[in-house]
Amino acid sequence: MPLQCLKTFHFRNLQDVNIELNSGLQIVYGDNASGKTSLLDAMHLLCSGKSFVGASPRKLLQFNHDSFSINGEIKYKNNLREKLQFRWEDSRIHLMVNHQAMQRSSDYAAIQPVRAITPLSYKLLDDSPDIRRRFIDWGVFHVKHDYIEIWRKFQRALAQRNAMLVAGTDARTLIAWSQEYVQLSLLVDQYRAEYIDEFRQKLKILTELFLPDDSVTINYQRGWNEDGDLDTILNDSFRRDTERHFTYYGPQRAELSIRMNQKIAKDVASRGQKKLITFALYLTQARIQQNIGHQDGLLLIDDLPSELDAEHQRMVMDLLKNLPTQVVLSCIDLKQMEIAEGMAKKLFHVKQGHVKEVVQ
Ligand SMILES: Nc1ncnc2c1ncn2[C@@H]1O[C@H](COP(=O)(O)OP(=O)(O)OP(=O)(O)O)[C@@H](O)[C@H]1O
Ligand SMILES: [Mg+2]
Repeated sequence: MPLQCLKTFHFRNLQDVNIELNSGLQIVYGDNASGKTSLLDAMHLLCSGKSFVGASPRKLLQFNHDSFSINGEIKYKNNLREKLQFRWEDSRIHLMVNHQAMQRSSDYAAIQPVRAITPLSYKLLDDSPDIRRRFIDWGVFHVKHDYIEIWRKFQRALAQRNAMLVAGTDARTLIAWSQEYVQLSLLVDQYRAEYIDEFRQKLKILTELFLPDDSVTINYQRGWNEDGDLDTILNDSFRRDTERHFTYYGPQRAELSIRMNQKIAKDVASRGQKKLITFALYLTQARIQQNIGHQDGLLLIDDLPSELDAEHQRMVMDLLKNLPTQVVLSCIDLKQMEIAEGMAKKLFHVKQGHVKEVVQ
């Protein structure tokens, strides 16, 4: 069970929450504007250092306060425990693990895998390729320990190559220097491609279940010609890269195209189909992370009934039953969640920012 307890101080409308969590499924319910999304977002901030609402921490401060904090304890698969703290104070973020400050937010985010499915998650299909690259990278980060270091080195090499292009570096110097960029690009691509291979197989099971009448496929493009050699491609594009002042070809241009019936899902899928595809994508990621990752995951599902009809809610619930991931899902009315209520290990009622456990 990843997240054992959660405490919040001066976070959004929450009235200093102090709750203990359980393994498996927990349901959070309450009226509109009671604080359900705030509670799930507090868990997300604590585990990842980032808000899924997308707001900067300043906007999450409770009105009339100038700092907030979220504290919690996580338990690893091997039963070791760690205390996490996310604090906003003096107009900046403080990330603490066992009372020690963490300098790099990516190191902090690597500790406890957390994913949120929210009413805005369909943006994974609709937004620019960057969101899908981050989706793949999140998956790889949490199953391959060494990927984070390769990814960081790649980002540095890319930034340096771009800086050389801005400075007007001549072709020979740039080509000689680009070796490192090429090697790291190949590694990033290899890790991503391996992950996608596994992902594709597992995704198929869920899309066939959720959308039996449609065929959903994914296609990973690595960011340069599949048959091409990146060295040669960079040499050939030297002039254009110099004019553009940035490196065009490489993993920074990778794309995961998601198709329904051979067409880009963004263009042809209905809103409901997009939601189902999005659920399939996130649940596939949760299943892979759970099987291979070093730490159990936490899955947050905000406002499930507004996202899926009763039949699909039942399918998701069946899947969650077999997924040993800790899941926190929110809804307005428990009646909407009859299917899940019997499965829930804990129920929390949220009213005007107060969160209370309901003894079943
Ligand atoms: N920084 C803030 N400080 C205090 N309250 C805030 C802050 N930001 C938002 N709120 C308020 O907190 C309340 C709870 O918002 P939240 O989004 O958590 O509700 P919810 O229970 O998820 O509602 P819904 O069912 O409509 O999604 C809202 O009234 C919102 O206006
Ligand atoms: Mg909400």
